Amino acid sequence: MHRTNTCGELRLADQGKKVTLSGWVQKVRDLGHMVFVDLRDRYGITQINVPSDNAKLYETANKLGREFVVKVTGTVKERESKNKNIPTGDIEIDPESITILNQAKLPPFKIEDDTDGGEELRMQYRFLDLRRGPVQRNLALRHRISMETRKYLDSQGFLDIETPYMIKSTPEGARDFVVPSRMNPGQFYALPQSPQTFKQLLMVAGYDRYYQIVRCFRDEDLRADRQPEFTQIDCEMAFVEMEDVLNTFEGLTKYLFKSVKGLDMADFPRITYAEAMKKYGSDKPDIRFGMEFVEMNSFAQNKGFVVFDNAELVVGINAKGCSEYTRKELDALTDWVKRPQIGMQGLIYLKYNLDGSLKSSVDKFFDQEALQGWALAFNAQPGDLILVLAGNVEKTRKALGELRLEMGNRLGLRKPDHYQPLWVLDFPLLELDEESGRWHAMHHPFTSPLPEDLELINTDPGKVRANAYDLTLNGVEVGGGSIRIHDRKLQARMFELLGFTPEQAEAQFGFLLGAFEYGAPPHGGIAFGFDRLCALLGGTEIIRDFIAFPKNNSGRDVMIDAPAPLDLAQLDELFLAVKPLDKG
Ligand code: AMO
Repeated sequence: MHRTNTCGELRLADQGKKVTLSGWVQKVRDLGHMVFVDLRDRYGITQINVPSDNAKLYETANKLGREFVVKVTGTVKERESKNKNIPTGDIEIDPESITILNQAKLPPFKIEDDTDGGEELRMQYRFLDLRRGPVQRNLALRHRISMETRKYLDSQGFLDIETPYMIKSTPEGARDFVVPSRMNPGQFYALPQSPQTFKQLLMVAGYDRYYQIVRCFRDEDLRADRQPEFTQIDCEMAFVEMEDVLNTFEGLTKYLFKSVKGLDMADFPRITYAEAMKKYGSDKPDIRFGMEFVEMNSFAQNKGFVVFDNAELVVGINAKGCSEYTRKELDALTDWVKRPQIGMQGLIYLKYNLDGSLKSSVDKFFDQEALQGWALAFNAQPGDLILVLAGNVEKTRKALGELRLEMGNRLGLRKPDHYQPLWVLDFPLLELDEESGRWHAMHHPFTSPLPEDLELINTDPGKVRANAYDLTLNGVEVGGGSIRIHDRKLQARMFELLGFTPEQAEAQFGFLLGAFEYGAPPHGGIAFGFDRLCALLGGTEIIRDFIAFPKNNSGRDVMIDAPAPLDLAQLDELFLAVKPLDKG
């Protein structure tokens, strides 16, 4: 037998029991008269106390290196000096036998909670990194969230139905990963960016509540919250309106926070896209803190300051308690907004000093009375610092949105253990791609317009609002969905607006348009970014820490060294070999 117990479960109450434990050697300490061996498995660490007067055991213990796999049989004893920091800290094992099950090379970094291994090295040896406590706790949390999600959705009558991974392109706005077909020369499958069209077909088929915890694939630029393959909690419901979907998935989110974190969440606030952009400069605002935008055009323009006068929008925020910022700090903040990622020309400030005086970087154009007006508009108190940007509406809002988050960080207003969800509603249906001059679906082409905006589709498409919604949590988009088009004619019109000819629409989405002619019920749904949800519940935004085998920022798996070239024979078989030019 390899083990009677795990390395995390023995306590004082087990004193005197004969047990067998197996695990990895975390540490060996030779004190001369005895050797302490810390034995670790995923449940914890148990101390083995090897007395030096047992020559055979002492010799074996001294041969042990870090990460050796070992089996120990012995008796549970009370420790002389207890370790209050670990649950097994009151006991140790007095061994009868120690068997080395396997040796280990010295690991390239310490397998401890605080490791000395850098990111790249840990990814290369991910199987060792996965032995560490924090990573194991993250994956256990992921498991818990997955189980609770299934429990909730099952209780609500959702069926877990799998959809294929080898499909035809689903447009979610990224590029497809493709798989060549050997049996169909020159033809390719696309890996799904989401199961969108399949879940809609399931609604046509009458499976009125579907869910799947499903892998999705997107060839797009990677960031801390984006992986090329990631997981969604994907759901669809028939005979529903937006309100039904929001209630069901607000319910899921609340249930997860209660069951996983023990937190009761109040009803989620809602905001329209237009309001979110106006108040926070973002479609996924972090509302853990206020610092809402104040638009200043009405009182800051036409005072002779050309930067303001020439701007479409003059807008600012009140960074409370920052009036003591030094010249140097303000210059650094100005450089921060001038970085290419933010792209502003400069930053205007107004300090409301603790002594009540007002000092701005534009004193030349604004007298004290005018600055008092600013302070009033921002509801500023002595000690506050008003930061102002000016320029075109979209860019300025976005930049101030970033500055707001930065100030939120600096002021410690974005606490990871404070959870603030928010529904964002009424997104525009379409956005104009400046370069091509073409309309793009802001969510995806299957999203239905708000019924009251339907008429505008033919007259002013840019003004049409979508029957779509996003769930944001602490400024992270965790989920998004919509009520779908279920009418063939409207879907065809949508494809037309997006620049598809009828033939192209038929070739790419004929199966869906066709299905809509066989009794498609009204339907809608949502998908949650499962990795993002896990990371947020785990207190970070870095999703790769919650994925067992993630890719790095260049989309590589550095452990297995993928992607990799194929040999010529395999390429040839797939009709992908580049043939030498025919010299004839
Ligand atoms: P959407 O494209 O908004 O909607 O995706 C849903 C959610 O998936 C997460 N997500 C990602 N997570 C990690 N890495 C990525 N590369 C990545 N891309 C997206 C986000 C996002 O909110 N079919 C629709 C859903 C629907 O309409 O029902 C869809 O996929 O958290």
